[in-house]
Amino acid sequence: MIRHFLRDDDLTPAEQSAVLDIAARMKTDRFAYQPLAGPRSVAVLFDKQSLRTRISFDVGIAELGGHPLVVDTQVTHFGRGETLGDAGRVLSRYVAAIVLRTHGDDRIAEVAAHAGVPVVNALTDDYHPCQLLADLLTVRERFGATQGRTLAYVGDAANNMAHSYLLAGATAGMHVRIAGPVGFHPDPEIVARAEKIATGTGASVRVLVDPVDAVRGVDVVATDTWTSMGQEDDGLDRITPFLPYQVNDGLLAHAGPEAIVLHCLPAHRGEEITDEVLDGPRSAVFDQAENRLHAQKALLTFLLEASTP
Ligand code: CP
Ligand code: NVA
Repeated sequence: MIRHFLRDDDLTPAEQSAVLDIAARMKTDRFAYQPLAGPRSVAVLFDKQSLRTRISFDVGIAELGGHPLVVDTQVTHFGRGETLGDAGRVLSRYVAAIVLRTHGDDRIAEVAAHAGVPVVNALTDDYHPCQLLADLLTVRERFGATQGRTLAYVGDAANNMAHSYLLAGATAGMHVRIAGPVGFHPDPEIVARAEKIATGTGASVRVLVDPVDAVRGVDVVATDTWTSMGQEDDGLDRITPFLPYQVNDGLLAHAGPEAIVLHCLPAHRGEEITDEVLDGPRSAVFDQAENRLHAQKALLTFLLEASTP
């Protein structure tokens, strides 16, 4: 069986916790695990822009003893008719795993359906599950555990980060509040899936409109851009409805006394988050960015170990 990581809930709660354990060990000893020794290669493909994901996978695969092949797909045949299924089949003959950042989830599902090696979602329109592993690792570092902690995500509640907070947060036993303006709320099917997970983990899930209600007393305040990649020309006003959701000192005053702030980056400073907060004492944003490296190395180690060709 081949294990893919297309959505946050492709890992059970026990598996998610095991991956975070490995990540914490890797952070203290970066070269302890060499599952790609050989070197075996990993293809890391981008249909969209990236800084953190691109570099952290490139560095991480090398640190695991492997050979990273980082490719912008404009230089492949993706845009001129080669099917993603054929690409998945061909790449599986060369590499130990495929990492893909793309648009619709149907695209990565097609690669996975035809691949003979693990496929990892490096961001799609609906999910950003690698980012959430880094976020959960950061929460663990700051609070000792994720179980029972409260997280509020405020802003564009219809985007990939909102969906991944719902699924990964519920899997991690967290109380997740997602707040955004009417018209920018999460996919109800994903909310229902998170609610179902929450019943088994002691977590809870709430979708709200009021940002102050969302952040009241929480341990973690998270946000993301109001304009995700590909939405630049969608014709929607992506500023005015979101202004009350800006993470600034005023909003943060309603959070818990030990609250930390997360942002997956890149930030649009002055829009969804202020300089004062991003650069301030509650910001865990740069630890969070570093943790992409450790979390993804742990994830690849887990998927390679759990998969039998
Ligand atoms: N957070 C994140 O995925 O950043 P990049 O788009 O730079 O990879
Ligand atoms: N929601 C953002 C996340 C970027 C890492 C986007 O999809 O552009």
